Amino acid sequence: MNTLHSIAQLRAALARARQENKRISLVPTMGNLHDGHIALVEKARQRTDYVVVSIFVNPLQFGANEDLDSYPRTLAEDQRRLLDAGADLVFAPNVSEMYPEGMNGHTLISVPVVSEGLCGASRPGHFDGVSTVVSKLLNIVQPDLAIFGEKDFQQLAVIRKMSQDLCLPVQIMGEPIVRADDGLALSSRNGYLNEEQRRSAPYLYQTLLHIEQQLGSGRRDFAAVIDEARVALVEAGFRPDYLDLRDAETLQPATGETQDIVILAAVYLGTTRLIDNLRLNLA
Ligand code: PAJ
Repeated sequence: MNTLHSIAQLRAALARARQENKRISLVPTMGNLHDGHIALVEKARQRTDYVVVSIFVNPLQFGANEDLDSYPRTLAEDQRRLLDAGADLVFAPNVSEMYPEGMNGHTLISVPVVSEGLCGASRPGHFDGVSTVVSKLLNIVQPDLAIFGEKDFQQLAVIRKMSQDLCLPVQIMGEPIVRADDGLALSSRNGYLNEEQRRSAPYLYQTLLHIEQQLGSGRRDFAAVIDEARVALVEAGFRPDYLDLRDAETLQPATGETQDIVILAAVYLGTTRLIDNLRLNLA
C-alpha cells in the first residue's frame, strides 16, 4: 500500500490500475480513522478491485471559529489501519497541492436546497467546501464508486445531488452508521470529549431511539415530540443546535404524509459538536 502526496503521482498509479481493467473506488476522509471509516473501506474492497482512500483535512469546509487547527492529524496510525483493512492506495495531499493558488478565488460547487438548513444553517459555507473538495477528489481519482457514511446524512444528500446534477460518472454509495457499544456514533470529534462528557454522549442516540419509539407507537404531534426530546437533551447537559424530523429523500420538513423519515440532530456537549441521525419508516 502506497501513500502518495501529489496528484500527478496518483494519476500515474491509477493509470496502471486502469490498464489492468481494475474497478476503482474512492473513500474520501479527513483521517484520524475509526471503525466507521474502516467499514467504508471494507465495503469498497468488496465492491471493487482497487481501493483509494483520501486523507485531507479540507480547510475550505471549516468555518473561521471551527476546529481546523485542532482537528486530529494521525497519518502514521491511519496508514497502519488502512494497510490492515486492505486499501491499495492512500492519497494524502497537503493544502497547497489541493489549493495551489489558495482558497480565495477558487471555483466553488454550491448545491442549493439540500445544503440549506440543518448543518448548512449553523455552518455557513461548509457544504460548498465539502462539495468542492469532493468534486475535486472525484475528478482526480475518477473512481467507478465513491463511498460515504450515513452518519453525515445531509452531506451524503448534498453529494448525491451534486453528482446527479453534474452528471458525474461515478456511483455514490451510502453506508450505515457505525456506533460504539454504548450507541454513540463513532466520530473523530468524540476524542475532544472529556470522560464525563463521553459518559453522557450516548444519551443523544437514546433520544433518537426514544423519538422513534414515540412515532412508532402512533404519535403524530411531531412538534411536541421534538420539543419534549429537546428539553430532555438540555436537562442532560446538551446544547441542541437542531433536532428535526425530515423527509429522508428530500430533507424537507416531515409532514403527516411523510413515511420515510429521518430524525436529524446536532448538539453541543461542552464545545464539541456531535451529529447523529436515525431513519425510520412510518408506513
Ligand atoms: P470524515 O469526517 O473523515 O468522514 C469520512 C467518511 O466517513 C464520511 O463519508 C463520513 O460520513 C464517514 N463516517 C464518519 N463517521 C462514521 C460512522 N460512525 N459510521 C459510518 N461512516 C462514518 O466527512 C468527511 O470526512 C469530509 O467532509 C469529506 C467527505 C472527506 C470531505 O472533506
